[in-house]
Amino acid sequence: MKKEKLDQLLEKLSLEEKVGQLVQLGPMFFSEGGEITGPMQAMDMTKTELYQIGSVLGTHTKEEVKNIQSTYLEHSAHGIPLMFMADVIHGYETIFPIPLALASSFDPSIVKEMARLSAKEATSAGVHVTFSPMADLVRDPRWGRVLESNGEDPLLNATLIKAYVEGYQGDSLLDPETLAACVKHFIGYGEAEGGRDYNTVDISDLVLYQNHLPAFKAAIDAGVKLVMTSFNTIRGIPATGNRWLLQEVLRRDLNFDGVIISDWASVHELINHRVAADKRDATFKAANAGVEIDMMTDNYQHHLVDLVKEGLISEEFINQAVMHVLQLKNDLGLFEDPYRSLDKHPEKEIIEVELRAESRRIASQSMVLLENQQAILPLQKEDQLALIGPLAESHDLLGAWSWIGKTEQSVTISEGLLSKTKQIEMVKDRHDYVKLKYVDKVIVALGEHSEETGEGGSKTEITLPQEQIDLLKEVYKWNQNIIVVLINGRPLDLTEIKMYSRAILEAWFPGSEAGNAIADVLYGDVNPSGKLPMSFPRSVGQVPLTYNMMSTGRAINEYNHTQKYVSKYLDNENTALYPFGYGLTYSNVKLSEVEVIDKGDNVTVNYTLINPSMLDAQEVVQLYVKDMVTEVARPERELKYFEKVFISAGASKKCSVNLTSEDIAYYHPDLIKKADDGTIELYLGLDSQAPLIGSWHYKA
Ligand code: IFM
Repeated sequence: MKKEKLDQLLEKLSLEEKVGQLVQLGPMFFSEGGEITGPMQAMDMTKTELYQIGSVLGTHTKEEVKNIQSTYLEHSAHGIPLMFMADVIHGYETIFPIPLALASSFDPSIVKEMARLSAKEATSAGVHVTFSPMADLVRDPRWGRVLESNGEDPLLNATLIKAYVEGYQGDSLLDPETLAACVKHFIGYGEAEGGRDYNTVDISDLVLYQNHLPAFKAAIDAGVKLVMTSFNTIRGIPATGNRWLLQEVLRRDLNFDGVIISDWASVHELINHRVAADKRDATFKAANAGVEIDMMTDNYQHHLVDLVKEGLISEEFINQAVMHVLQLKNDLGLFEDPYRSLDKHPEKEIIEVELRAESRRIASQSMVLLENQQAILPLQKEDQLALIGPLAESHDLLGAWSWIGKTEQSVTISEGLLSKTKQIEMVKDRHDYVKLKYVDKVIVALGEHSEETGEGGSKTEITLPQEQIDLLKEVYKWNQNIIVVLINGRPLDLTEIKMYSRAILEAWFPGSEAGNAIADVLYGDVNPSGKLPMSFPRSVGQVPLTYNMMSTGRAINEYNHTQKYVSKYLDNENTALYPFGYGLTYSNVKLSEVEVIDKGDNVTVNYTLINPSMLDAQEVVQLYVKDMVTEVARPERELKYFEKVFISAGASKKCSVNLTSEDIAYYHPDLIKKADDGTIELYLGLDSQAPLIGSWHYKA
């Protein structure tokens, strides 16, 4: 539809009809025949109001979408189709690894492919918009939603968020296999105090601009269609009622021109935050801030019209908000075809075969090998194995936000291993322990339940449960050739696990093809290449712990570490057990011929990667900088470049990277981003503890 036609349509709408477009409800409101039951009664909604709403959240099947859309269109006055939105986070029915695992790939092409394929499957079930990607930067593994994040680094986060948006949205939303993306949660949600979900957030503007905005900017620059506000406060005001945040930061500074949607009931929750007196006040605060769609409450439905009539909210705001919604429907081609993506895809079975194969490949690229002492891995065909542990035969491998995925259809670790070898003993209880004595290697499958992670899944302890640690110790008494496979959704304290293992494979929640992907990596059919997107602490007491902590006045060093009055713990080290960017391959890839060419306003680093092994490998090369003198305190080091490089067995490869002022620009106290002249130390390596390779004397 042409823009003029959209303008004409907008003009035809009554104020009530306009407000309807800004209301989003769940499919349960559309019971058979449009009866007013349950939730609608509770919300005191009329049928007329229901047939004016703009969008629906969380349908399950294409039949459901068809029914709701057709009933709605029969009853609605102007034939404006509904838009269907859902949380398609790491797959729809076929589940891919959790986002934190995808981030471990350090590979935007993996993320983009995952998003493209999820869009393909979700659109075949009638979904138009996904509430993904989650761009919240996270530094606290106690927070359950860390699994939905890209971890602790702004550059990695921004790079992958761009890839998500490109993957979901493709080249044009008129392609029925694409989804419109909604980046969330704006902003700071990952900084919830104490890692407790929905808790207060209090960060400085410098932290906000430097660490949190880049990923949202990347999404907006990539053309993301919606932004979701977060539950938390920012500068003391909940994001959903925060005019400065939505108008000055999001609209003005980030130049966002799409739809702003609240999180689930976050308009109403302004009352719980005690910044709004009642529903009317909550509606005023949210609309005045610029929230356009009210998700899952009747606040807008029942109060926005009056607020406009009383002149408290301008009709201009309403018109702009409705136009954003209509424009998105138009971008999706819904006016031409309200059933846009239904019945336009290959058969479900064909999609499934493609997605299953890619889910297996992507999962194997997302695992991180943390230990491999005496090269116990890869497994050899002739190895006699035993498999034990609570996750050995469990199907709980999908992770949170896989509501359409079928847990029982995931491939277990035992199934995956059995597809590669028959020389494996399943050790189920203590009567079987004796079997452990006679095998070459024992695989111990440990981890978290999916229910312990995700939204509302915050924890104060990040070790594995004591019974799992006891089991590992018991196995150790029988056989010390232990390979631990971890299924989990957050950085864990692995101090004790490390003491009793020769190899540790961090498999995260790998998705539908979990067991097959794990077996591929354990047997070396896939050379592991994942890197940690978050630091793994030695103890929960170190949290938040990131590689890019700020310089302090009393930093610990090799000369002062025995003194008391330095920034350290008395009972543990400052460093991570496994640092950001860390992960092993089976190939022991080396960096050599490193050369720094300082050209003043830019610098080039040349390096060669050598793969001395008989296996093809991928290594993630990482370049960190430390700006030696800055106007505000800056991190000890910051990632400025990473690249996953493929190197054939026995081969070497020459590579090069160039940094410019943009890479070292930072926010000054006036929130202006610019680079300062001065010395920048450069560190190049295969994790965040990369060694110093030289300096760049930057001069603009
Ligand atoms: O998208 C989610 C959000 O991340 C948390 N609250 C509910 C939304 C919609 O399901």
